[in-house]
Amino acid sequence: MTELNCLIVEKRDAVALITLSRPDALNALNSELFRELAITLDQVEADESIGAIVITGSDRAFAAGADIGEMKDMSYSQMLDDAGLTRHSDRVALCKKPVIAAVAGYALGGGCELAMMCDFIIAADNARFGQPEIKLGVVPGIGGTQRLTHLIGKSKAMDLCLTGRMMDVDEAERAGLVARVVPLDEYLDVALQAAAEIAAYSQPVTRNMKYLVNSALETPLEQGLAIERQMFKANFALDDQKEGMAAFVEKRSPEFKNR
Ligand code: CAA
Repeated sequence: MTELNCLIVEKRDAVALITLSRPDALNALNSELFRELAITLDQVEADESIGAIVITGSDRAFAAGADIGEMKDMSYSQMLDDAGLTRHSDRVALCKKPVIAAVAGYALGGGCELAMMCDFIIAADNARFGQPEIKLGVVPGIGGTQRLTHLIGKSKAMDLCLTGRMMDVDEAERAGLVARVVPLDEYLDVALQAAAEIAAYSQPVTRNMKYLVNSALETPLEQGLAIERQMFKANFALDDQKEGMAAFVEKRSPEFKNR
């Protein structure tokens, strides 16, 4: 693994645990962190022994947004060149392996956006979400107005983006942003357990599952259903389909081989 300054990367059996680690700045997301995240995900994707990923922060902050100190004096032309955090910021959303965000504390601005790039969010009961960019004189830059609106609808997204207020975890769960809310001392274990469960399934199938659920947000229903039907049929070319169904019939646990 490359030497990392902003992340701690651990392998827990078939799960990669990536911890954002800029404790002095509440894990504010700078360009170095996003570059390290991109390099790490390249390595994790290439590692066949890893079937799922958890991204987490600290108990106090998942991430309190993009690093304001780094970007405050940047020029328009530097921003156009993607000289800052926008250069690698989409990498998590492009990851082919399932990614869970384990969120405690602040998930604001880029932190909320990073959590939304993951496949789903498991949140501690102290988590707080928001897009406070308006208070800084900017709009969100890495998905805040778009993914948030897809996930929680126009009215609440407008409320959050235009006022810059934070929402607590109960509101976030009601709104559909968060998949599960668990006590603070359990959220990471719950996320790792969910990731381990996913990692035990067939990787070609989890990859297709991600593709299908994501495409439901972007394709008309009829087209989405047609793609799903084709992928369902294509599953029957996999050894893992034969193994999964044989194991059910034989009343044993399946052993997927990822092919
Ligand atoms: N960038 C850089 N540093 C940050 C930061 C950020 N986004 N958020 C917090 N920090 C730093 C603080 O400057 C502080 O550093 P010092 O101790 O050196 O002063 C340290 O983290 C601790 O923060 P606070 O003292 O402010 O802690 P608090 O508990 O009083 O407040 C907070 C916590 C409410 C999260 C507050 O820190 C805050 O409002 N942070 C900024 C949130 C924000 O505006 N995020 C959006 C950024 S823009 C963006 O993300 C654009 C995009 O879409 C890509």
